[in-house]
Amino acid sequence: MFYECTMAELRVLFTRDQIARRVVELGAQIEKDFAGQSVIFVGVLKGATIFLADLARSVRVDATFDFIGVASYGAHKMTSGEVRLTKDVEQPLTGRNVILVEDILDTGLTLQYLKKVFLAHQPACLKVVALLDKACRRIEPVKADYVGFTIPDEFVIGYGMDYAERYRNLPDICVLPPEDL
Ligand code: IMP
Repeated sequence: MFYECTMAELRVLFTRDQIARRVVELGAQIEKDFAGQSVIFVGVLKGATIFLADLARSVRVDATFDFIGVASYGAHKMTSGEVRLTKDVEQPLTGRNVILVEDILDTGLTLQYLKKVFLAHQPACLKVVALLDKACRRIEPVKADYVGFTIPDEFVIGYGMDYAERYRNLPDICVLPPEDL
């Protein structure tokens, strides 16, 4: 299936049904691991918002939400190397079961930075869930505890993920052709 857009034809990598099925599976794993406990889902703005909304609804445990914002210096479509906080969490994380929700794990620089920020709060436990993992691009040796799909080195958009702030509202995950980057 293809999307027509002003820039190019976008190839669908994962359909909304494939995403929905995988999100339910991830939710079941998290529910099992945190049965009888409470968790706080912390989404990384803005890419993880749609994933967090779907994931959280498939985890039947006592839960709250929060969001954290990060930016990479000089980055347009990829992480440049330096990450900074643009929005901190609003709820205390000390002693809580924190589940950090990421849209995509690429070089790992963002996650490496965020793990340090989160661990400084001394949570009871910190788990990371990433919908997508571009494992072949990793620079920092970080891993997610729960991964939706491992993908090759392609630039993806949709289901919350953007290119220059566009395409977040596509319900499927699509590949943006390299010539449009
Ligand atoms: P990392 O620090 O290189 O792991 O980058 C993580 C962040 O870069 C993600 O949370 C996304 O915001 C962004 N990113 C990396 N690859 C893609 C992509 O293919 N599409 C959209 N955003 C991406």
